Amino acid sequence: MNSGSQAGGERPGATADDILHVRGVSVHFGGLVALDNVSLTAQSRQVTGIIGPNGAGKTTLLNVLCGFVRPQGGTISFGGRELARIRPHRLARLGIARTLQGVGLFSGLSALENVMVGATSVARAGFWPGLLGLPRSDADEKRLRALAQAALELTGAGDYAEAMPDTLAHGLRKRIALARALVARPRLLLLDEPASGLAEDELAGLGDLITSLARECTVVVIEHRMDLMMSVCQEIFVLDFGKVIASGTPEQVQADPAVTAAYLGADAETGDAGTGDGQVGANLADPSPGSAKDSKERASD
Ligand SMILES: Nc1ncnc2c1ncn2[C@@H]1O[C@H](COP(=O)(O)OP(=O)(O)O)[C@@H](O)[C@H]1O
Ligand SMILES: [Mg+2]
Repeated sequence: MNSGSQAGGERPGATADDILHVRGVSVHFGGLVALDNVSLTAQSRQVTGIIGPNGAGKTTLLNVLCGFVRPQGGTISFGGRELARIRPHRLARLGIARTLQGVGLFSGLSALENVMVGATSVARAGFWPGLLGLPRSDADEKRLRALAQAALELTGAGDYAEAMPDTLAHGLRKRIALARALVARPRLLLLDEPASGLAEDELAGLGDLITSLARECTVVVIEHRMDLMMSVCQEIFVLDFGKVIASGTPEQVQADPAVTAAYLGADAETGDAGTGDGQVGANLADPSPGSAKDSKERASD
C-alpha cells in the first residue's frame, strides 16, 4: 500500500477532505475569557497560521483541539467528523498530533527512543498495524527504530539519534519533538511555536519543512515570527483577547489596521515603542527579538 519513503510517504487515511472546522468555541478560566466565540477553518494540505499578542488565547485554542482543555461552548469537526469530546489519549487514533510550546521530551530517553514513543502510541492505537505491524518481535522493533530514525532525518536531527535530550541545544530538541509528532503520521498536525528558540539561520529550513509537511496533511501553526508565517502560511487567523479580529492571506492580515492596533497595544503594555510606522513588525508578539539566544539557554521546558 505504501511504497514511499517511510517517514515521508502518503499519510494513511489522509484525504483532501481533511478540513478542520472550529465553530463558536469559547473557553473561560474562572472570570477570564480565554476564547470568545472563536470560529476558523483550516484547509486540507495547507498551512493555517494562528497569531496574536501574548495572552491572546493561541495555546488555549490548541489545547482545545487536542483535548487538554474542554470548551464551554462551540463545536469542532475534522474530516467531516464531529469531535465531540476530544481526549488526549485518543488523538493518535483521530490522526491528530501536536508539538508543545515547550519541548516536552523525556529526559531519560535518547532522541531516537523519544521518537519511538510517538510511533508506539500510534501502533497501539491501531493506526498503522495493517501497514507496519505492531512491534511484537525484534524485527518489528527494528522497523519502529527505522521509522523513528527516518523521522529524525526528516527534521534534520538524524545525527543525534543516540543523544540524550538534555545534552542538546534547544533547536535540536525542538526538531526531535517535531519528529516525534511526525512519526505518528498525523492527518492534522498542530505546531505550537515551532520556531521558538531557533536561530535566524534555522528559520528557512524550518519553513521548508513545514511547507513540505502540508503536502500530506492539514497543518495548523502558532508562531510569533511573522517572517516565518509569511513564508509558510496560506491563511492566517489573528486572535486578540480571545477573539478572531482578522483573517486572510499573510499579506492581508499584515496590512490590516486592526492587527497593527492589537500589536501596538501589546507593545505599549510591554513598554516597547512598537514599529511606529503602522506596519506589523517581523516578530509580532515576541517582546524580545533576541529571544532565540535566550530561549536556547533555558535548561528544559
Ligand atoms: N489553565 C489556565 N488557567 C487559567 N488561565 C489560563 C490558563 N491557560 C491560559 N490562561 C489564560 O488565558 C489567556 C490566554 O492564554 P494563552 O492561550 O496561553 O495565550 P497565548 O498562547 O496566545 O499567549 C491568558 O490570559 C492566560 O493567562
Ligand atoms: Mg502560547
